[in-house]
Amino acid sequence: MEILRTVAELRQWSRAHKIANRADGVNTIGLVPTMGALHAGHASLIRAAKVSCSQAVVSIFVNPTQFGPNEDFARYPRTFEADCALAQAEGAGAVFAPPVEELYPAGAATFVEVEGLSKRLDGGSRPSHFRGVATVVAKLFIASEADRAFFGQKDAAQVAVLRRMVADLRLATEIVVCPIVREPDGLALSSRNAYLSPGERIQALALSRAIRQAQALVAKGERRAAALIVAAREVLAVESAIRVDYIELVDWATLEPVEVAAPGSLFALAAWVGATRLIDNTIVG
Ligand code: PAF
Repeated sequence: MEILRTVAELRQWSRAHKIANRADGVNTIGLVPTMGALHAGHASLIRAAKVSCSQAVVSIFVNPTQFGPNEDFARYPRTFEADCALAQAEGAGAVFAPPVEELYPAGAATFVEVEGLSKRLDGGSRPSHFRGVATVVAKLFIASEADRAFFGQKDAAQVAVLRRMVADLRLATEIVVCPIVREPDGLALSSRNAYLSPGERIQALALSRAIRQAQALVAKGERRAAALIVAAREVLAVESAIRVDYIELVDWATLEPVEVAAPGSLFALAAWVGATRLIDNTIVG
């Protein structure tokens, strides 16, 4: 597995793999964008990339522009050696791990803003978050010339923003969404779970319980957003360390609230467990 540090190296690696062995068909590049601290959720994305593309490249970059001034950029877990071991074990052909100045050269003044969607859900309490995400993902798509890029459904709002960006900029990279990977007890995998104390880890289970409660109501025929939101809020209210950021039923494409669940509706929530902000969701309808 190769470790690539510059955009030029990534582009060269990608182009070399696209033209190699053309006799057995068209070669494709699968990109798995990450901020490192890789876990089984990332492993599932790398496996998906390996299944549908001839080569997988994992980017590892803790992107400063998607963190707010009082957020966890400085203490975000950085576990580069272990990340490379996982990427290699899952069959990635390369890891792209640039220094900050490679993606944000001195004087960088160009940003990608997906208007509207970027202020919805997580964008409500993290005003510049999706601008940073869209900007860095656009840079990664352009640099890697990837045919497909793999994202987890856990970051469902991020997926909606990036789909809009790809459509608007007519980018050639197809977005593939993979299912949420959970711990056996239900907690959605997240690099930020590492911040939880043992007590908070137990209370954090309320997030997946709230999601399951909404799913159970939908299975019984409930479609009203208000009823689903109240039920989830009641589950979360039991835990003293939890403070709800949002619980919403939205159209997954526009992230606009809907009153009644329909095919393509996204039931999503975010909550602080102590000082750690976690998210979870389910697709209803
Ligand atoms: O989902 C993430 O880990 C990040 O938001 C991403 C897509 C790698 C951009 O920094």
